[in-house]
Amino acid sequence: MPKRYFTYNTLDDLRRDAAALRIELPLVDDKEEIRRILARPVEICGEGARRWRLGNSLAIHPMEGCDGEPDGNPGELTFRRYQRFGVGGAKLIWFEACAVVEEGRANPRQLWIHAGSAAGLEKLLAECREVHAREFGSSGDMIAVLQLTHSGRYSYAQPRVAYHHPVLDAFPFANLANLPPRATPFEVAGDDYLMALEDRFVEAAALAQKIGFDGIDLKMTHGYLLAELLSARARPGPYGGPLENRARFALNALRKIRERCGEGFLLAARLGVYDGVPYAVSPGDSSGAARRFPVPYFGGFGVNPQNPLEPDLTEPLTFVGWLMQAGVRLLNVSMGNPYVNPHIGRPFEKPNEGLYEAPEHPLLGVVRHFAVTGEIQHAYPGLAVVGTGYSWLQHYLIHAAAANLKLGRVSVAGVGRGALAYPEWARDALTKGELDPLKTCKTLSFCTYLMRQKKHPLGQFPTGCPPFDKEGYGAIVKQARAAARSGEIATSDLEAEGQSKLKRARRFA
Ligand SMILES: Cc1cc2nc3c(=O)[nH]c(=O)nc-3n(C[C@H](O)[C@H](O)[C@H](O)COP(=O)(O)O)c2cc1C
Ligand code: SF4
Repeated sequence: MPKRYFTYNTLDDLRRDAAALRIELPLVDDKEEIRRILARPVEICGEGARRWRLGNSLAIHPMEGCDGEPDGNPGELTFRRYQRFGVGGAKLIWFEACAVVEEGRANPRQLWIHAGSAAGLEKLLAECREVHAREFGSSGDMIAVLQLTHSGRYSYAQPRVAYHHPVLDAFPFANLANLPPRATPFEVAGDDYLMALEDRFVEAAALAQKIGFDGIDLKMTHGYLLAELLSARARPGPYGGPLENRARFALNALRKIRERCGEGFLLAARLGVYDGVPYAVSPGDSSGAARRFPVPYFGGFGVNPQNPLEPDLTEPLTFVGWLMQAGVRLLNVSMGNPYVNPHIGRPFEKPNEGLYEAPEHPLLGVVRHFAVTGEIQHAYPGLAVVGTGYSWLQHYLIHAAAANLKLGRVSVAGVGRGALAYPEWARDALTKGELDPLKTCKTLSFCTYLMRQKKHPLGQFPTGCPPFDKEGYGAIVKQARAAARSGEIATSDLEAEGQSKLKRARRFA
């Protein structure tokens, strides 16, 4: 029977557990104080007099819905999600990972920015702003950032790695113990490929600016290509070895984006500051355990090489300083790799089906997020830092967010899964100073389950929150389960929908 961790009926229950675990978890009790703190506007300071003003201190994290069209355009469910986020009340809406090249898509339904999808992305953004303005009077203080990515070893059609890593190469989805090792070796992204890719990021950023986004984010987290480059110590050549070389891709791309887009365009980064090591289901039981790793550990960014189970922020702190010099003004701090150690990035109550159970109390994971983010914010008080890891706290997340904001440990509190389950969480927090416990995400991982389901006519099931958004995803999760059980591609109306989209995509090709 999986262990239940979140058993709190009061804030004091939560405090007691934190004390028993010997961790520091500041919480604000008073509803009025919570409202006041969360409502604080945030000034993001650019060059000279350039400022971006965020109307409150709350963000929605980037979350792929895997619901785009085969040609990279947003689909019906994508529009629905961003309308729900737009009316939700958070003033920073961080649009999900969007591939800059087709071969860098993580799945055939990932958004992909190019001339043929620009009008669709523009409509997506316009609708999000429009519903926000209708609900709150204006969207002038709402900031929309688009996350740009290349999925690297997790690209579905043509995976490319920054360097060979024995465990990640053999077990790309290393949290499954019973998976046979991958037979074909991964292709390493060559220096010429990377040099050309820098320019694809620049073109994508220029297009995002034309579409109307306030800024872009370079996705350097969760094991994707730009994250992996940061730990490419063993890679020879200009993109590997010392930190200066490992940082080269990001710094070159940022410099060129700044030259092309000017200082009025907001540069942001989502940075994985602690990669951790791969985990797997322990043999003989369902709990998670770290796979064997060499010491000193050569892979991973932000890990202590002598004990990679612990963060070491020396390099991430240096790199953040360089990012700021390159013009980054907004930093979203994340960690872990959802394919091999999901408990680190997304502390959960229940794992995705068949994967390992939490190898640590999820509160330890939450507090790890808060602590490393606090270190970065303290080192760079002028940087707008967005914090992650709040959803596991359910309705108490705003008590922790208010405390972290009050103590200057973060500038903006971001919510991921919590916003899929309860898109209007920010509005409730700001108006009532409390969240409805019946609506909050329970970190049950059905959204991750859907993300991993491929037996759909388009090669990917869309994801959302089946338990709390039944209208959107109730039928979809049933179809995904039936397809997984039968081993066949889903049929019925989904197939019809899929086939017609495929036909349309073929017409574009
Ligand atoms: C369905 C789903 C999709 C996600 N997609 C992205 C993404 O596109 N980009 C990204 O940086 N993180 C992505 N994440 C990670 C979230 O942004 C966030 O870091 C994570 O869920 C932890 O925050 P939380 O505890 O508030 O959920 C995704 C998470 C989920 C559950
Ligand atoms: S499916 Fe819903 S409740 Fe479960 S983790 Fe995802 S958002 Fe939370």
